[in-house]
Amino acid sequence: MISEKGYSVKLAEARGYLMENVEVLPELGVILGSGLGAFADLVEEQVVIPYKDIPHFPISTVEGHAGQLVFGKVQGRKVVVMQGRFHYYEGYTMQEVTFPIRVMQVLGVTGLIVTNAAGGINSSFSGGDLVLIKDHLNLMGDNPLRGANLSNLGPRFPDLSEAYNREWRQKALVIAKELGIDPQEGVYVAVSGPNYETPSEIQYLRTIGADMVGMSTVPEVIVANHGGMRVLGISCVTNMAAGILGQKLSHVEVMETAERVEKQFVQFVQALVKVL
Ligand code: 6GU
Repeated sequence: MISEKGYSVKLAEARGYLMENVEVLPELGVILGSGLGAFADLVEEQVVIPYKDIPHFPISTVEGHAGQLVFGKVQGRKVVVMQGRFHYYEGYTMQEVTFPIRVMQVLGVTGLIVTNAAGGINSSFSGGDLVLIKDHLNLMGDNPLRGANLSNLGPRFPDLSEAYNREWRQKALVIAKELGIDPQEGVYVAVSGPNYETPSEIQYLRTIGADMVGMSTVPEVIVANHGGMRVLGISCVTNMAAGILGQKLSHVEVMETAERVEKQFVQFVQALVKVL
């Protein structure tokens, strides 16, 4: 376990490095999921910081993830964009997976847009749909807040009754309609991965209330809430989950679908940044 002092010192060193290298400090964070990295191209007055240059940052290993923070402005808002995230299935601890969220917090970020590629469980969804996350189920078998609570970062027992801010979701539904995106919401369940689920597991997840399934997002959202941030979550349903359509699943399909909707996704997030 990371000791309390060790973690605070690491966080302070990462913050110190970024404060020295970035002029425009962010108010809003954006995490880009698999195949959804193009939003970063919109950032004006860009300052790009590779993860490898930031003290104590993990390095991402998954294909389709650039592995850098992009600081600057979108629609006049000061943002930091995570192009590539850390997954629990890569072997990182929950503290490592969520380290970037803590770094955002200590840089002054108060709102987070988190995106992912997910499998569709609700049969009203289809591949390529963008779905707002209205709540989540943490089935990862771990929790980033386990261990000593750093009370300067947040409370021991944080409330998650509105983990995905209601007002932001309502604004996002309005914007979706304006852009001709079918305004849908669902419950996201996070599993540890890295295998996709069996059809029986998907049946179970459907029964307990999940609409889409993935291997990310929940750790970051727990930590963002602990740190007092507002959160908006968007899943790109890249494929239907196992047993729903009787098709096999592949990472290639996930990436191809994400790329297919990337333009629409970028447009959506761009419009969101303006109003959130
Ligand atoms: Cl079907 N399952 C999980 N766990 N993650 C996914 C997925 C399915 N499709 C995209 N990401």
